[in-house]
Parts: sequence; C-alpha cells; structure tokens
Amino acid sequence: MLSYQHVYHAGNHADVLKHITLMSMLKKLTVKSKPMFYLDTHAGSGVYHLNSEQALKNSEANTGIKNLNDSANHLEGLIADYLTVVAPYQQSSQYPGSPMIADELLRDHDTAFACELHPQAFNELQSNSKHSIIKAQNRNGFEALKAMLPPSPNRGMVLIDPPYENAEEYTQVLEQMKVAVKRWPIGSYAIWYPLLSPQRVDYKSGEIVANPKAKLSKLMLASLAELPVKSVLNVYFSPSSPSPNTGMYGSGMCILNPPWQLAEELEELIQQLCSCLSGDANEYCGVSWLKTEAQK
Ligand SMILES: C[S@@+](CC[C@H](N)C(=O)[O-])C[C@H]1O[C@@H](n2cnc3c(N)ncnc32)[C@H](O)[C@@H]1O
Repeated sequence: MLSYQHVYHAGNHADVLKHITLMSMLKKLTVKSKPMFYLDTHAGSGVYHLNSEQALKNSEANTGIKNLNDSANHLEGLIADYLTVVAPYQQSSQYPGSPMIADELLRDHDTAFACELHPQAFNELQSNSKHSIIKAQNRNGFEALKAMLPPSPNRGMVLIDPPYENAEEYTQVLEQMKVAVKRWPIGSYAIWYPLLSPQRVDYKSGEIVANPKAKLSKLMLASLAELPVKSVLNVYFSPSSPSPNTGMYGSGMCILNPPWQLAEELEELIQQLCSCLSGDANEYCGVSWLKTEAQK
C-alpha cells in the first residue's frame, strides 16, 4: 500500500540537499551539447503547496527552503541558481519537486522520464509536467529502471528517491542497483537516503525506544560502494544532531559515477548549507569518496 505523501516533507532540508545536488549533476552533464538520458524513478507529484494543511502539519519547509530564503542575498553559485529556479514557485507558496527542477536544466533534445506509482500523485505529476520535457509514467520506478537500461542516448543519469517507509526498500535499492550497473555501468546514479536518529519516541507510549531502521542507510552505502562502477561519492547534510524527537535528522546522496568535479562543487555547497541552515559545520555534514577510480 502506498501511504507516503511527499507534500508533508516538501522543501525540507533533505529536499534542499537533493535538489541542489541534482542541479549540480545535470549542469555538468549538459555542458556537452550531446543529448542525454534522465530517469527519475520515484518522482512524486512535481509541485507542492507549502500552505496546504499537509505541508503545514510539521512545517518542514522551515528547516530548508524557508530558512534559506532568509540568507538569499548573501548566497552565490549553486545555491543562488537553485533559489532562482525555486523563486517563481514560491511566489504562489509552492515548491517544485525533482521533475520540475530537472526540467529547468534538461534541453529539448534530451530524453527524460519520471515514474510515479501513487495514482493521485501521478495525476498531479502528469498535469504539472504537461509542458515539460519530462514524460510522466504511472509505473514502478524500479521496474522502469530495469526495463529502460541501457538507455538511448547512452549518457546521462538516474535519480532514485524512494520513501524508505519499509526496511525492505533499502535492500530493494541495492538489488535493483546491482542489475542497473550491470546493464549500464557508465551511467551516473544519485540515490537519496535518510539519516535517522538511533532512538525515537514511540508515538503510542511516549517512551524512547531504539529505531531499528537507523543503521540501514549506512549498510546500504557500504554495499553500494562495492558495486562495479568507477567511483562512488557520498554527500550528506544535517541541520541538527540526532535526537529521539527528530527522527530524520539529516540525509545524504550516494552518487555512483559522479560527473567530473562534482565533489569540489558539493564541498562548497555543504559549507554554504551549514552556514545557512545549521549555524555551523558539524560532523553530520560532508562530502567523502566511498570508492575512487584507483580502487576499482
Ligand atoms: C520521496 S517521494 C519523491 C519526491 C521527489 N523525488 C522529489 O524530490 O520531489 C517518493 C515518491 O515515490 C512514490 N513511490 C513509492 N514507491 C514507488 C515505486 N516503486 N515506483 C514509483 N514511485 C513510487 C511515492 O508515491 C512518492 O510520491
């Protein structure tokens, strides 16, 4: 059953990290005029209303886009470009999802697909992407990943952004990635993952209990780094420290075959995000190589 709805989280710190990283990758992949392939396996509905009852339930955008706006005048480079993309949506209290962010950077001769399984989110995605380069598909993104690779054109990237509501989804990402890199070893892949606090407050009893899912991202990253690709980069950001009250205190992107010089650009991004959203650099923010070409 699909119960996850991204509107509750739209524009939070994790969306900010994911969408700026996506922009950085697409900017680098579109430097060459040759056409590229883009697949978003878990697309969501494309546009979110930040004044909706759902978005205001926990006001998660306050940890991300709304907080960044306060520093907008001082920001340069990638973050400034991201704010320029988001600004027209914000005029009507909206926030763009990954398909709309990608559409800003893709060109008419590129090939782009966005998969969404939830019927209502798909209808919204279809309507929101009507005038875009993105072809919305109402199908399982993991199944599409298998079916579409290797793609034509044979250069480009895949964004994988599952809800991770169930522990099985971590294993599913890994299993699907094993197949994907076998079919398309030269593609770039960006896999979003949550950083969860080791303990959480049980919503029924109010007691602090262990969160068994907290270790799963780390285990998944270790296995992703073993896949037969040239290099694996990890970028992660958290505006706060782990705490039972926070649940997801941060997030990261595991990037297989990152485009040339992505790491340097993301280093700068993380420093800026830390100074705008978390007050200062902390141990839960950084960029690190999980595998380099020399280790292949
Ligand atoms: C985290 S949200 C996506 C957010 C979006 N990528 C963004 O950044 O704006 C995950 C979405 O995946 C959808 N979903 C869950 N399982 C799926 C699957 N197997 N295939 C395609 N979509 C799926 C959910 O309905 C939800 O809309």
